[in-house]
Amino acid sequence: MKLTVNGADVEVDDRFAKSPLLWVLRDVLGLRGTKYGCGIGYCAACTVLIDGRNTKSCQTPAGRAAGKAITTVEGASGPVVDAVRDAWYQGNVIQCGYCQGGQTLAATALLETDRSPDDAAIGQWMNGNLCRCGTYPRIRRAIHQAAGTLASGRDPEPLAAPLELEMEPLTPEELADPVHPYVRIGPDGTVIAYSDQIEMGQGAHTGLATIVAEELDADFASVRVVSAANGARPGGGNVYGTPAGGGFLQLTGASTSTVGYWARYRLAAAQARARLVAAAAEAWGVPAGEVEIASGVVSHPSGQRAGFGDLAVKAAQLPVPDGVQPKDRNQYTLIGREGTLRVDAAGKILGRTRFTIDVTLPRMLTAVVLHPPKFGARAAAVDDSAALAEPGVVAVVRVEDGVAVAGETFDDAQRGLRALAVDWDEQDAERRSSEELLAEHRRLVTSGEQAVVAREDGDVAAALAAAAHVVDAVYELPYLAHAPMEPNNAACRMCDDGILEVWAGTEGPDYTQMAAAAAAGLDKDRIRVHVPYAGGSFGLHSTSGHDPVSEAVQVARALDWKYPVKLQSLREEEFKSGRYRAMAVHRVRAGADAAGRVTAFWQQIAAEPTSPNLPGVAEVLMKGGVDYMTTSGAVDGPYALANFKLETTNVQTGVPIMVWRSVGNSHTEFARESAIDELAAASGRDPVDLRRDLLAGNPRTLAALDLAAERGGWGTPLPGGRARGIACSSFLGSHSAQVTEISLDDRHRVHLEKITFALDCGITVTPDLVRAQVEGGLLYALGAAAWGEIILGDGGQIITQSFDRYLVMRMQSTPQIEVLLIESGEPPTGVGEVSVPTAAPALTNAIFALTGTRIRRLPVAKTIRVY
Ligand code: FES
Ligand code: FES
Repeated sequence: MKLTVNGADVEVDDRFAKSPLLWVLRDVLGLRGTKYGCGIGYCAACTVLIDGRNTKSCQTPAGRAAGKAITTVEGASGPVVDAVRDAWYQGNVIQCGYCQGGQTLAATALLETDRSPDDAAIGQWMNGNLCRCGTYPRIRRAIHQAAGTLASGRDPEPLAAPLELEMEPLTPEELADPVHPYVRIGPDGTVIAYSDQIEMGQGAHTGLATIVAEELDADFASVRVVSAANGARPGGGNVYGTPAGGGFLQLTGASTSTVGYWARYRLAAAQARARLVAAAAEAWGVPAGEVEIASGVVSHPSGQRAGFGDLAVKAAQLPVPDGVQPKDRNQYTLIGREGTLRVDAAGKILGRTRFTIDVTLPRMLTAVVLHPPKFGARAAAVDDSAALAEPGVVAVVRVEDGVAVAGETFDDAQRGLRALAVDWDEQDAERRSSEELLAEHRRLVTSGEQAVVAREDGDVAAALAAAAHVVDAVYELPYLAHAPMEPNNAACRMCDDGILEVWAGTEGPDYTQMAAAAAAGLDKDRIRVHVPYAGGSFGLHSTSGHDPVSEAVQVARALDWKYPVKLQSLREEEFKSGRYRAMAVHRVRAGADAAGRVTAFWQQIAAEPTSPNLPGVAEVLMKGGVDYMTTSGAVDGPYALANFKLETTNVQTGVPIMVWRSVGNSHTEFARESAIDELAAASGRDPVDLRRDLLAGNPRTLAALDLAAERGGWGTPLPGGRARGIACSSFLGSHSAQVTEISLDDRHRVHLEKITFALDCGITVTPDLVRAQVEGGLLYALGAAAWGEIILGDGGQIITQSFDRYLVMRMQSTPQIEVLLIESGEPPTGVGEVSVPTAAPALTNAIFALTGTRIRRLPVAKTIRVY
């Protein structure tokens, strides 16, 4: 079979004629810029151009593309795609970047068809291309920008991307150096910052490059950020830790990347700068105080000049001068600057960035795992004869949670998986449906059975008894999937020196190392973890040790380490692996006096515990039966409540639970902000005024509330059929509020019109990327609030397995979003998750204002359609 790909004719074995073009491009032709997201036509991550039309390559048999011009992200060229890529780059569109090859090709096809599409045309055309990072508002803007560029006749330069750095492991001496493990300067003047935080879309690496360039007075373009886990372990020494990990685990979580970088890297870069100054002073025989650095050039008024590379070797031999301090805030030229562009954008736009799915090793097999149809079921009998007869299938291996098929390509393995016949033993399976599980949560929360008091202030029962207005309401939230665009995966290989190398887009390399060691039967010091860019995560790849790692290692071990193995989950198998956001039911009893002042707030929670039972986590987050990951946002909410009680019940089910973007706050704040709104309605008060009373002692959240209300038009008239809702939050040290404006059409469908979001997250290192994170968090959470729900059917069968049933935010439903950053001058605090908790209650509060219907059960679409 002959295919014409990126202008060249290539021969492909006829056995692949019926295989999806996606896997032929990726695994046979090595064109890995085209991505797998679902394999069933619901995400368009796999978009290519066929004869200029954007086409889902997972739905196109390779043979059907013969004789046509196939263009992948690697081969696209010309003025239209150049204009698109330039607009994407300048507009800071990308986050994790996994979907963006497909997005840019779809946008290119649109502009080839329509040179000035309006928002509606863009929404319709791009609606099939999912972005779980929520880059839709920027994609919309970038398409308009590209259209403007094309109309102007200006030809943007084709985008170029630096090659990804392959770093050598740090030596023990370097690890012991107080500066080297953080910041190195190469002989060519390149500044390399080692990050212990994974880049999964949040922009952490760009923030780090900004901090380092600022303190070094380096040329921003000369700073490269690489993963510290890439060879800088095992053996410890480079395990910086974050506040989330108790200071000793390498863990990306709780929106602490910039928080964790802030003090350490400013000081490390300032120390590196001082060493460069000392080296120049010594070389030139001048006082150090007369040496200047600007934009990567070291100079002296006498006319001496040098680049960083000229001084790096000498500087590294000098001690760190005493008393070096980072800059004062008023000296910043890069931190807080508008217009900083992401350091990882170009490679991702051009499809060159290598994610875990793209790891390729000599003789590597790709494995897929069939998981049981119910949580806790086990494979009793496996007939693998038909699977092994499939061309390209190499082995079938039982793994702990299922049966793996290893093949030469993903498509081979997938065909093998479909040919497997497995009898499942369901004796220990969770056999309750999600409705039955919800009923159990409801029973527990209303009975108070097994409840533990997490916090108690004043006398809530007496205050409720004396209240003039009382709300007693139950709020119900379903299981949610993380569903990052890059489905679960990992790769491993045994090296000749007995080191097991593992590649995984993990948030917790230490746990990944432990999981790999356990699966391999090796000491953990023999595991070396590489952390590539991740195509999203949202908590899925955090503390469990990232189960695909264990599965990849189990398969490689069963095959006597003869082959490197990449474990690539099918999207439906990722859903069947669970690790969902917990189901949660809250009961809130709240009271107000005759003047509408809140006098009592009693919140009860029933949810599966989220804190994993892992070293370094359990002892910090689970105390006296209270799981902080369940109660966060309730136990430490923003309001002053004199009579407050919080109780929590840990519900035991067989459904695997995992932290999900914003963790407990994703449900606790829905209950709180809904109940406060209900109390405002019951006592005839304006919801903003009532919140203002409660925030008298919390000026930063109050300022956010006031700003969101003012700029969101709170209290000003709206056209008929429109309404606004409000919610506010103090979370991860940040303070926020949002006004959500919606409309209702004549078919009684809710439309999201506009969100005004005010945020005080302290000093913003990269303001535009903060705005991007807020936008992404809002859209992630709004999709979940509107439609998100994992359904377990009769007998516990996992029904929701992909984007056909798990509906998420798409371009057409994306509202206008305005993000307002409050300059408090405080140190940086969390950003990546802080816009999630208020999204659902601001929406349901708006629906109540518009329709009088109070939504107490999510998703909203169970009650009213959201368009
Ligand atoms: S539509 Fe092709 S991978 Fe999702
Ligand atoms: S940037 Fe689109 S999925 Fe991450």
